[in-house]
Amino acid sequence: MKKYRWGIIGTGRIARSFAVAIKGSDNAVLYAVASRSADKAAAFAGEFGFEKSFGSYAELASDSSVDIVYIATPMASHFADSMLCIDHGRNVLCEKSIALNSAQLEKMLAAAKDKDVFFMEAMWMKCRPTYLKALEWINTGRIGRVRYIKADFCCSVPYNRNDRLFSPECGGGALLDLGVYPITLAADILGSSPDEIITDANIIFGVDMSNSITLRYKDSAAVLQSGFEMQLPNRALISGDEGMIVFGEGFHCSSEITLFDREGRELERSIIPVIVNGYEYEILEAQRCLEKGLKESPLVTHSSTLAVMRIMDKCRKDWGLVYPDE
Ligand SMILES: NC(=O)c1ccc[n+]([C@@H]2O[C@H](COP(=O)([O-])OP(=O)(O)OC[C@H]3O[C@@H](n4cnc5c(N)ncnc54)[C@H](OP(=O)(O)O)[C@@H]3O)[C@@H](O)[C@H]2O)c1
Repeated sequence: MKKYRWGIIGTGRIARSFAVAIKGSDNAVLYAVASRSADKAAAFAGEFGFEKSFGSYAELASDSSVDIVYIATPMASHFADSMLCIDHGRNVLCEKSIALNSAQLEKMLAAAKDKDVFFMEAMWMKCRPTYLKALEWINTGRIGRVRYIKADFCCSVPYNRNDRLFSPECGGGALLDLGVYPITLAADILGSSPDEIITDANIIFGVDMSNSITLRYKDSAAVLQSGFEMQLPNRALISGDEGMIVFGEGFHCSSEITLFDREGRELERSIIPVIVNGYEYEILEAQRCLEKGLKESPLVTHSSTLAVMRIMDKCRKDWGLVYPDE
C-alpha cells in the first residue's frame, strides 16, 4: 500500500489525538499541519514530527503533496474549511458534526462530487471494530428484530463562554457535539427517516446545554439524550425480540459489547482493545478508500451522514435554535 501524507487543519484538542493516531497507523505519514497562527503550527509540527507547518489553512489546501486533509476546527468552520480543501482538489476527512446543517452539507457533497475527491465525516464510532461487531450481531439475527435503542452522551462540563462547546458563533451545543453519536447509532440501526421526532432542549446563551430526543418508527423507537450538565455512564442498549446488546461505558468509543438472550442471560462478550487511541480506525478506513479509488466510505456513507444532519436540523427547528452563521 502507498504511504498517505496527512495534513491537519486546526491545532486544538482533537488534532492532538489525531496526530498521535497518524503516528501509530500503518502507511500514514505526518506531513503537514495548518493553523491560523504560524507559531502555533510550527510548535505543533515540532511536537508531533510533521514535515511542514503553515500559518494559514489556504496554504495547506494549496499543497498538492497532501494526500488527505483532516479538518479539526469547530463546527461553524467545517463548511468553509472543507470547501477550501475540496476546491483545491484535496481529499477530506472532516470532524463531526460535519456541518451546521444539511443545506451546508448538501453543498459540500455536491462540491466533492464535482471535484471528484474523497469526502467523509470523521465519525470514528462507525469505523471501530466494537461498533462493527454490534452491527454483525444485529445483521445475523442474534437479537431478532430491533425494537428499542437507548443511548446517552452526557458529560459534566463547566460553562465557559470562551470554549467552542458553549459558543453559538462556533456552532456549539450538545446536539452537534455529542448528540450526533446517539442519533447516528439509532439512524444506522432503525433507519434514517423516523416517522416522528419528539424533542426538547435546555437552551442557555444560544446553545443547547442538554437535549432529549425520541425517534419513533412504525414498531420501534430510540430514546436519546446528550448534554453538558451532568455525567452519565453513556452506555448504549439495543434491544430486540430475541435479545439485547449493551455497549460498555462511553458507547461511542467503547471497546466492549455484550450480547444477552431474551431472558437477560449473557451469551457473548467482545472486548477489542484499541491499537493506538481509537482514531486509527477512521484513518485506516480513509486510506483503504483512497487505495481503492473510492470517493465515499462504505462505512460512513454520504447518505447516512446527511440523514443524521436532517434529523438534527429538525430538532433545532423545533427548539428555535439558529446559529449566527445560518
Ligand atoms: N472524534 C472525537 O472524539 C472528537 C473529540 C473532540 C472534538 N471533536 C470534533 O473536533 C472538532 C474540534 O474540536 P476540539 O475540541 O479539538 O476544538 P478546539 O480544542 O477548540 O480546537 C479547535 C481548533 O480549530 C481552530 N479554529 C478555527 N477557527 C476557530 C474558532 N473560531 N474558534 C476556535 N478555534 C478555531 C483552532 O486551531 P488554530 O488556532 O490552530 O487555527 C483550534 O485550536 C469539532 O468539530 C469537534 O466536534 C471530535
